[in-house]
Amino acid sequence: MVGAPSAASTVPDVDGSALLVVAIDGPAGSGKTTVARRLADALGVDYLDTGAMYRAVAFAVLGRGVDPSEDETVAEIARTMELVLHRDGTVIVDGIDATTQIRGPEVTRVVPTVAANAAVRRELVSRQREWTHRRGGGVLEGRDIGTVVFPDARLKIYLSASPEVRAARRAQEVTDLSYDAVAADLARRDALDSGRQHDPLRRADGAIEVDTSHLLIDEVVALLVRELDETGE
Ligand code: DC
Repeated sequence: MVGAPSAASTVPDVDGSALLVVAIDGPAGSGKTTVARRLADALGVDYLDTGAMYRAVAFAVLGRGVDPSEDETVAEIARTMELVLHRDGTVIVDGIDATTQIRGPEVTRVVPTVAANAAVRRELVSRQREWTHRRGGGVLEGRDIGTVVFPDARLKIYLSASPEVRAARRAQEVTDLSYDAVAADLARRDALDSGRQHDPLRRADGAIEVDTSHLLIDEVVALLVRELDETGE
């Protein structure tokens, strides 16, 4: 079955129903990355952090001194860049190890602009689908996995958490910023990710929403494994 066309998307639909795909979407700090990694381990499948791909494009754009709002040039960089994502989280962009820098403040500041570029999204969605087809499935996390990349994923999850909990989690990760600065940055990114024209963050039709505010990682992973079992596969 081909997933229902996603009205706001410029990306064509594909039939992903034969693959074992778990789609995990949600805002920054909702626990996506930790949960997706742990779930992939539990299932014995690979894991794809699609946010790292948008960050890699932003890294390449900054490295070339290009204005992130120059849509055409940025799209060309996305189409031609060599991007390798290793299992251990290492990210190689055009032969350079960008693992640390893609998480830094410069990339974090410009990545929403890059992620709002429709041609960049088309290119990265195509690479994400290719990655998944090559492996017969996987756990993918991002903002548009259940709405655009694989609308017919075996399991679609929308992770949420209160803004306070999300900011507290991020503040623990980035030791050089105050809680208030982190909370303000999260609110800015939430607004950009949810308010953009192309493939904004929203809960996919049929996605199970899990509020992780008061749950342990193990509890979330166990819940998702149970949900997957109940899909009958
Ligand atoms: O999850 P993250 O913070 O690493 O994501 C980085 C940026 O990329 C953020 O602005 C959201 C965007 N993104 C997106 O638009 N679509 C995805 N599938 C994943 C991330």
